[in-house]
Amino acid sequence: MKILVTGGLGFIGSHTVVELQNKGYQVVIIDNLSNASLEVLKGIVAITGKSPIFEKLDLKNKSAVQAFFKAHQDIQGVIHFAASKAVGESVDNPLMYYENNINTLVYVLQELIKLKVSNFIFSSSCTVYGQADTMPIAETAPIKPAESPYGNTKQIGEEIIKDTCKVNAQLNSIALRYFNPIGAHQSAKIGELPIGVPQNLIPYITQTAIGKREQLSVFGDDYPTSDGTCVRDYIHVVDLAKAHVIALQRLLESKNATNFEVFNLGTGKGSTVLEVIKAFEKVSNTKLNYKIVDRRPGDVISAYADTTKANTVLGWKAQSTLEQAMLSAWKWQKVIN
Ligand code: UFG
Repeated sequence: MKILVTGGLGFIGSHTVVELQNKGYQVVIIDNLSNASLEVLKGIVAITGKSPIFEKLDLKNKSAVQAFFKAHQDIQGVIHFAASKAVGESVDNPLMYYENNINTLVYVLQELIKLKVSNFIFSSSCTVYGQADTMPIAETAPIKPAESPYGNTKQIGEEIIKDTCKVNAQLNSIALRYFNPIGAHQSAKIGELPIGVPQNLIPYITQTAIGKREQLSVFGDDYPTSDGTCVRDYIHVVDLAKAHVIALQRLLESKNATNFEVFNLGTGKGSTVLEVIKAFEKVSNTKLNYKIVDRRPGDVISAYADTTKANTVLGWKAQSTLEQAMLSAWKWQKVIN
């Protein structure tokens, strides 16, 4: 069965390709390599022993998207990761984000409708909840006004799919709302490859520990949390990848309850920044150089998932602990250093 993975050389995409291949799917990857490297393809092949089909293609090029789907009419499902994902960059360049994340989604959906491809998985984010009023966050929590153009593209993306599903009964879609994906494949052959100075906590920690960055800044310790630092739900990327395969199977087997569903993907456990640092220090047996600085604008205080729906309806549960995820991130950092 042929599955298209857009953005398949990215962080979550590449781990999902591995899990799909492990389950026997034939994978076609589209990636424009704007934030990924062809080296990732080698990592995937080294892990699975199978070569996915790869096409370097920019989904902003509508005629190229049309030509691609014409040439691959046997695709039975699409997992759509391709998107820009840096919150700060989206604030500086909103139109780039709307073009990259919205136009491309529309072009892909248009071809799916034309070819009657029914199974579509969308990368969404817990960012759609903003600062939720209650913890843990269930899928029924209200969608708050987006904090950034990036967050807005995830909200609008879900709306676009929902509206499209309403008038196209044959289209079945699942939006997966990720909490904070971290870690790397246990083989240390694929992992996160941030370009430039990392914006996210875990690559910043591992790059500091290896000596690439001098010091980690912890953004604020005066939040109303157990130790004053922000709380997030850090989920191992391999657990996340497995959830995509399960969600896809749900659609392929027509087990979905409605033709547009959403699921939170997290561990259900919140960890503070200082707890993450502690977990890292323990598994790496190092001391991390960090200092407390001012809050980072736009950070929510706390976000962790109510995973009941994913656990019961999808039959999926995150397996890895924070320490296991941190250890895999550290192993990966040592390989790519
Ligand atoms: N943090 C630091 N120092 C750093 C980097 C991060 O203290 O150098 C803190 C942040 O303040 C936050 C926590 O670590 O409290 C996690 O920050 P990340 O940047 O790793 O992750 P975010 O929760 O801010 O962002 C993630 C995704 C976004 C998504 C958002 C939704 O990266 O794509 O979750 O909440 F929009």
